[in-house]
Amino acid sequence: MKIDLVTDIKSDVQVEFIQKSELKEHKRYKLLNRAGFSAEQDSICFLHEKAILACGIESDESDNFRSACSAAIKALKSSNHKSVSFNVNKLNIQAIIEGIILGGYEFNEYKSKHKKSSLKHIYLTCSKIEKLQRLFEESIIIAEATCFTRDIVNTTPEDLNPPSFADLAKKLAHENKLQCTILDEKGLQKEKMDSMLNVGRASRHESQLIHLTYKPKNPKKVISLVGKGLTYDSGGLSLKPAASMVTMKMDKAGGCAVLGMIKAASELKLDVEIHAFVGAVENMIGGVAYKPDDVLTTRSGKTVEVRNTDAEGRLVLCDVLDYAQDKVDADYIFDFATLTGACMVALGQYTTGIMGHSHKLKHGFYEAANNSGELVGSLPFNKHLKTLLKSGIADISNIASKPYGGAITAGLFLDNFIKEENKDKWLHFDIAGSAYTETPWDCNVYGGTGAGVRFMSNFLQNIE
Ligand code: BES
Ligand code: ZN
Ligand code: ZN
Repeated sequence: MKIDLVTDIKSDVQVEFIQKSELKEHKRYKLLNRAGFSAEQDSICFLHEKAILACGIESDESDNFRSACSAAIKALKSSNHKSVSFNVNKLNIQAIIEGIILGGYEFNEYKSKHKKSSLKHIYLTCSKIEKLQRLFEESIIIAEATCFTRDIVNTTPEDLNPPSFADLAKKLAHENKLQCTILDEKGLQKEKMDSMLNVGRASRHESQLIHLTYKPKNPKKVISLVGKGLTYDSGGLSLKPAASMVTMKMDKAGGCAVLGMIKAASELKLDVEIHAFVGAVENMIGGVAYKPDDVLTTRSGKTVEVRNTDAEGRLVLCDVLDYAQDKVDADYIFDFATLTGACMVALGQYTTGIMGHSHKLKHGFYEAANNSGELVGSLPFNKHLKTLLKSGIADISNIASKPYGGAITAGLFLDNFIKEENKDKWLHFDIAGSAYTETPWDCNVYGGTGAGVRFMSNFLQNIE
């Protein structure tokens, strides 16, 4: 499918966005009414003979265009039309492009028969294309980086394991001219990243630390992005129940997101230096597995009592965060992780949880999310929850002594590994709910959603 920005075109079908208040005045009102179309948000109605696809929208807020276009593109892809046009303006072009690309996304890698769609050309029309050209190109870069993230998340744990994750990062580095450093287990041992190494002990795949760098000439800011890259989370010896284990290939979504973010930043040619770190590990069971009761020495020197091997993400991230802080003197450090089921309990499945000390920085992300149609919510730290991580034998326990506020206690665990001078530069994003879906919503279809890529791209575009 090809998307072009044009002034005028004759296409097989034209999309018309219609609000309830406009319906009666519509030229084809009688026909639309007969078809039962009442301009409900996300409802669509084909008038094939008139070459119109009517799409209901609640108001002209950009979020409504995004979800309406997701519904439209699905219907268009299963029709026999070859070309379609959407009228766009400065305010809705990004949402329309996201609806088309993200709502029309399909992952068919594991289907033996490929569905063929007749739809070949998508035209976005507006009178002055020069004014929208840049926004058009940027929106496509961001949407495609989101699809890139989705593709990796959706790849099975057999195909996407820590070494193949590292190979994929090398390929991205080569294509986008990024610097790339990979540490295998030998390298991790040299760096004393024992906490991360222990999580991967029972896997037949060697754990890997991926570090990609995008370095423009005179960067305004330096940013470290850290991603949890659990290519599979069986829970380890604290084994997950069968039903909860399904979908755990998505436990690498944080790592996939930071690769999508650096891809977008480099293609947008942003003048921000980006470092993407991924801790790629598989959490498995077996005779050599790490166990509840083990005490691990992290890279920072702090010791951790393992009371649950399913709280493994924080054991990987604490070492990667420590490494990232030593290697790069960043202005901001953001980590992305499918860290806790508790985040979904707190905020629902659609919302990314934000934790950290700087209210200003958190506000920056409320705005970025709002601009890009992602949902975020803040989960506040407090000193009482912090005490729940005390351990009788080590410096800290890997799980809290009480189950309530589990997303926050996980965030507070990570906080123990953020150096004093970096406290206000760091935010933790829990994408456990938002990174993956088995039921479509908004522009998200079955599987990985690419959560984080759009709002981080927006944040980076607007950085001062
Ligand atoms: N990867 C999971 C968190 C998760 C759960 C992500 C559901 C996406 C969907 C994480 O490693 C985990 O298992 N966390 C435990 C922590 C608990 C043992 C303190 C959890 O959330 O139950
Ligand atoms: Zn786990
Ligand atoms: Zn996990």
